[in-house]
Amino acid sequence: MNKVPVMTIDGPSGSGKGTVSRAAAKALGWALLDSGALYRLVALAGRKAGVSLDDGAGLAPLAEKLNIRFGSGETGEELVWLDDAEVTGAIRTEEAGNDASKVAALPVVRAALLERQRRFAVPPGLVADGRDMGTVVFPQAEVKIFLTASAAERAGRRHKQLKEKGVAATLAALSLEIAERDLRDSTRSASPLVASADAILLDTTGMAVDAVVERILEVARGRLSSQVE
Ligand code: DC
Repeated sequence: MNKVPVMTIDGPSGSGKGTVSRAAAKALGWALLDSGALYRLVALAGRKAGVSLDDGAGLAPLAEKLNIRFGSGETGEELVWLDDAEVTGAIRTEEAGNDASKVAALPVVRAALLERQRRFAVPPGLVADGRDMGTVVFPQAEVKIFLTASAAERAGRRHKQLKEKGVAATLAALSLEIAERDLRDSTRSASPLVASADAILLDTTGMAVDAVVERILEVARGRLSSQVE
């Protein structure tokens, strides 16, 4: 069996993982796994089915059978469907992120999504974005990156993103939310947010997105000299 190369990009909310992972996947011509979207979708499926977000026994079968599709629209924008409904906007709200963080703390939900995540590894390669990509889902990944940024910078980035989308939010409320989510994501017993011992740590505070992507591609090229240009 030919092994599919995987690059994992883990880190806390607002560390820039999403943007950077997309750009890196595009530059390499590799598939992308946005694992956070899966947890957001499970939470949304739970809400739609009237299942409480702390009910592991109720959520695990939903996670197992999650009927989702990722695609792109006319202008190349990313679209996500849950069953027959387009839910792209619905899963990107702050509330959906908080819901995701709650269901992601449940070991049965994480277990139900494990194999589905691994199936994203298809030739010529995969960039996997999340919290436990390098530690749990793809421990054998050739390239592991752990992105960080100061809490203030992460809240500032999220604030800018929301403003661009026309969503009202205060910096103070976002800082609080980020701190809460960080705490829940890093102190849960199931796959907490920690850097894999073999991950390359990159503090992106004050760095432009392009510079972060370039640095990551440099690392990837170094590690995978025979597999990427
Ligand atoms: O990356 P994101 O903001 O879309 O993720 C939403 C939540 O899902 C995040 O607060 C923690 C959780 N998550 C996780 O526990 N494990 C992952 N691999 C990805 C996300």
